[in-house]
Amino acid sequence: MTNNAKTISPSTTPFKGTVTVPGDKSISHRSIMFGALSKGDTHITNFLMADDCLSTIDCFRKMGVNIDVSPDEITVHGMGLHGLKAPSDTLYTGNSGTTTRLISGILAAQDFNVRLTGDASIEKRPMKRIITPLTMMGADIKSEKENDCAPLLINGTKLHGIDYVSPVASAQVKSSILLAGLYADGKTSVTEPALSRNHTELMLKGFGADVSSEGLCATIHPAEELHACDISVPSDISSAAYFIAAALLVPGSELLIKNVGINPTRAGIIEVVKNMGGKISLENVRTSGGEETADLLVSYSRDTLHGTTIEGALIPTLIDEIPVIAVLAALAEGTTVIKDAAELHVKECDRIDAVSTNMKKLGIDITPTEDGMIINGSNHISGGVIESYNDHRISMSFAIAALTADSDISITNPECVSISWPGFFDMLDELRK
Ligand code: S3P
Repeated sequence: MTNNAKTISPSTTPFKGTVTVPGDKSISHRSIMFGALSKGDTHITNFLMADDCLSTIDCFRKMGVNIDVSPDEITVHGMGLHGLKAPSDTLYTGNSGTTTRLISGILAAQDFNVRLTGDASIEKRPMKRIITPLTMMGADIKSEKENDCAPLLINGTKLHGIDYVSPVASAQVKSSILLAGLYADGKTSVTEPALSRNHTELMLKGFGADVSSEGLCATIHPAEELHACDISVPSDISSAAYFIAAALLVPGSELLIKNVGINPTRAGIIEVVKNMGGKISLENVRTSGGEETADLLVSYSRDTLHGTTIEGALIPTLIDEIPVIAVLAALAEGTTVIKDAAELHVKECDRIDAVSTNMKKLGIDITPTEDGMIINGSNHISGGVIESYNDHRISMSFAIAALTADSDISITNPECVSISWPGFFDMLDELRK
């Protein structure tokens, strides 16, 4: 922890022009992992160079995978499904839940043993959700402190296929099981209560895996080998969300955000913005590597923003965007209700608590609930000092809130934005010049 703070002043400079935000975090992680497990070289463009994805690179390098990083391209020299080597030390996943949970499914099937852990936040996040299904597959995976959290001790072994009905809609859980399923002795399926992001299914297919989806059920058959496949990573809709909100809220704005991933399992924020009366349209819609992308044209709409209800199957499609959607709700007319989002308690921080504590400090009428929050919009946000909780999405969401506040907002420990977007504040400053 540092005592560093970032102060953002209200802005009257409209957000105008064309911008590109960094590559998708979920897709970047998977491109390294699946590339590492393939035969041949995987070339990745628009890879997200941020701390979380660097943690994934680091873990695979420690298992003998050569990964070349240049400014324009990453090359993963794949080792094949059975080519990973035992790391000489604990694998460290930093702040990354995706690295921790997905890699666990892979490690469960190797012929070596690993200790896996991450930072203080990772050591508090629930791992029972992967320990249970992986153990059903025959994995030897234990929580070192017996608290169902990391450090995890994973002794690689032979696995069986299972049909798992997951209690949570979580792509990290689903992906962990599907990756273990690549090595199992039979078919593995995962059925979710609502559809979570499906990047694993789409990308694994590109690498030659026998994976299919029907409704809420994804199925994988064991693979002999995966084959290298070039990946062009779309820009991250979760990062675009901050500039969507900025353009909606700052008078006179009209922003074109290029090449954003709009996979329907990720694009719930677009539907919500439309439901709230925000002006957003899709241009140049296309598909690459199974992933749909578009340029998003967003225009100032604060005068017409109104409250909405966000619930049910929509929640997994915008789970990471809820903090910044809460900022829109705070300035919209009427009430916004967010429910069925109890997963927010177990993200990089407890995001229901973080959003409501910070918003109350800024004079916003918000009531946290067990599975979400209720926000009564008003036409102003006060200045003040808020805490990032070392959570990148909290830091960036309140930076956007500051643009429309009555006076400055200071964010403590803002540097955590480097988890998903090291250049976030630079781009914000640049666009406000
Ligand atoms: C992710 C899945 C989601 C999301 C996270 C990234 C992924 O987590 O919140 O930021 O890349 O699979 P859950 O699987 O816990 O819902």
